Amino acid sequence: MYFKQILDEHCGCASYLIASRQSHKAAIVDPAISIDQYDELLNERGFTLKYVIDTHVHADHVSGGRKLAAKHGAELCLFETARVTYSFRGLHDGEVLPLGQLELKVVHTPGHRPELISVLVINPPRSAEPSMVLTGDSLLVGDVGRPDFGGGDAGQQYESLSRLLRLPDWVAVFPGHFEGPCGKGMCGRPSTTIGFERLYNPLTRLDRAPFVKLLSSGVPARPLNMLAIEQTNRGAADMPWAMLTTTESVADAPVASMADRSPGSVLIDVREPEEYHYGHVPGAANVPQSELASRLREIPRDRPLYVICEGGMRSLKAARFLRQVGYRQVVNVKDGTGAWTGELAYGDTSLPKPRVTESSWGHAGVLDPSQYAPL
Ligand SMILES: [Fe+2]
Repeated sequence: MYFKQILDEHCGCASYLIASRQSHKAAIVDPAISIDQYDELLNERGFTLKYVIDTHVHADHVSGGRKLAAKHGAELCLFETARVTYSFRGLHDGEVLPLGQLELKVVHTPGHRPELISVLVINPPRSAEPSMVLTGDSLLVGDVGRPDFGGGDAGQQYESLSRLLRLPDWVAVFPGHFEGPCGKGMCGRPSTTIGFERLYNPLTRLDRAPFVKLLSSGVPARPLNMLAIEQTNRGAADMPWAMLTTTESVADAPVASMADRSPGSVLIDVREPEEYHYGHVPGAANVPQSELASRLREIPRDRPLYVICEGGMRSLKAARFLRQVGYRQVVNVKDGTGAWTGELAYGDTSLPKPRVTESSWGHAGVLDPSQYAPL
């Protein structure tokens, strides 16, 4: 067999090429939007692409699945319940996709999203047991996928994790993310084993109730441009440009300088609405980062823009995105609302209190493990 993990540093995603060296048939799982890299690999190796599998409808990055499948005449596969507007081969739990001598076995592992599947890789000439599992955003390295956007469910995630942990120790785990916004405590390694995670993933030690409680609290903000990206992946919109693919340099300014910013300037607060309502720098307008690409019409192009969040991480990415789509006068407020010493302005504080953990991938590997101690 042939197996390659391809890591995308921009979105923290992993995609996979699996092929049979005997039949030269290949499958690609969770392809990134830049599909040239897969074309090159397939050409170099003389592989024919048979299946393109999206483990789920992604909300944090635009999938290259449709483009790749169309270009190669491959079958585009998703779990049968995936709610998308385009045609696809609907996979069911337990289904086996033959790939030369290899078998790709579908395991429905909802929780992060209802349609999420994991894929067991089996090479029967060597063993009837699986040697690898591609877990999408179910089991991550040191973490599991967050359940709080896109119809996820923490209880289902618990069941899915339990199901995966029944696999033998030696099974190598290849997740859909090695960093990024889909988890809150990923280790940063791009792979692991079932045995290691059973022993050392703090979530695997929890019973159902504390697992659900922990997974449902203190999540990072919804990903940058999540709305536009999810709609694009469902076929309900066509906004592939909503992905941040550049690292434009952006000027910065301290939050203290917002007290006397120029009168014609605009201050955009990209935090979640509940964070904004519970205290923002006076004059700031709230456009959460997850809605930024969908609400560009509200953001003037001819005025100086200041972008602010809690600590300067989300705002930097949002500012880079605004530069990417042509805004010229963009400044990142580098220390954020958390460093503002003046009076805060408030919105609707009858709303539930914020439960957002400030993060922009800084969370990878930095979560305090004691938070995971069994209750
Ligand atoms: Fe995801």
